[in-house]
Amino acid sequence: MTGSPTSEAAPRAGDHGGARGPANGDAPVLQVRDVVVRYGGVVAVSRVSFDLFRGKILGLIGPNGAGKSSLLAAIGGQQRAKGGSILLQGRDVTRSAPYTRAQHGLVRTFQTTSEFEGMTVFENLLVAGRGAVGASLWRVVARSRTNRAEERRAAAKAWGVLERFEMADLADAYGHELSGGQRRLVEIMRCLMRDPAVLLLDEPMVGVAPHLVAKFINDLRAVAAEGIGLVIVEHALEVIEQLCDVVVVMALGEVIAEGTYAAVVGDEGVRRAYLA
Ligand SMILES: Nc1ncnc2c1ncn2[C@@H]1O[C@H](COP(=O)(O)OP(=O)(O)OP(=O)(O)O)[C@@H](O)[C@H]1O
Ligand SMILES: [Mg+2]
Repeated sequence: MTGSPTSEAAPRAGDHGGARGPANGDAPVLQVRDVVVRYGGVVAVSRVSFDLFRGKILGLIGPNGAGKSSLLAAIGGQQRAKGGSILLQGRDVTRSAPYTRAQHGLVRTFQTTSEFEGMTVFENLLVAGRGAVGASLWRVVARSRTNRAEERRAAAKAWGVLERFEMADLADAYGHELSGGQRRLVEIMRCLMRDPAVLLLDEPMVGVAPHLVAKFINDLRAVAAEGIGLVIVEHALEVIEQLCDVVVVMALGEVIAEGTYAAVVGDEGVRRAYLA
């Protein structure tokens, strides 16, 4: 916290109390330590650190170009961190490929939706789930008994996820038949098919109709309540306020404040950099 030293100032990285701390003394599920991202000469992320605990929702906010998506890319493995480290359930994944990180429980969505247009919602979920069990192509083609059992399990899981999000009626719909909000939900459902420990969401509310935002917030809360740690990048501050246990504010690649929503919006530096 670089802002005002008020009594509202929330815990720093490494503290195990307050809004972000675990109720049961668990270790962080995700540790981001001094992470640096550079594009050529441009420093997009400059030594950013935070801890995320199971069942908690961490909001990442800041002005356009602050480095939020770049940080998510470094955590997800789409962008190589030029410095620092990323620990997932205590395991150093700083140099791991995105696929390996996903196998260890880290999955993400992107700022723009990316579902497979030529498939139904149900097929989208099955394909995502197949990644989780690691079935190779020949096994899919061979249709071994194990594979059929896996497919039955994946199908049952997909129905469970669809029903949970009240999307079962849309199981056979194609991407172009869905609303913006429904596409966002499909992305999150695809992530859940992979049994994540950590879910990274980049602007998940973009395209969600205003009357559906409250439902979406409840859905995300329910996801966290399963014990999944969520990192959410979002410009809609009312969403951050309702959703997040802790908020990290970035500007020009650096963390300028960290704490509860009330603490960071009351911070003078945040007001100058983002809210003014
Ligand atoms: N692929 C890239 N190549 C070069 N520079 C990039 C690239 N991606 C991002 N940048 C630069 O890195 C900085 C951080 O961008 P980033 O997209 O991470 O910000 P952001 O906080 O996600 O912004 P927004 O809120 O607009 O999505 C910006 O200066 C941006 O121009
Ligand atoms: Mg972004």
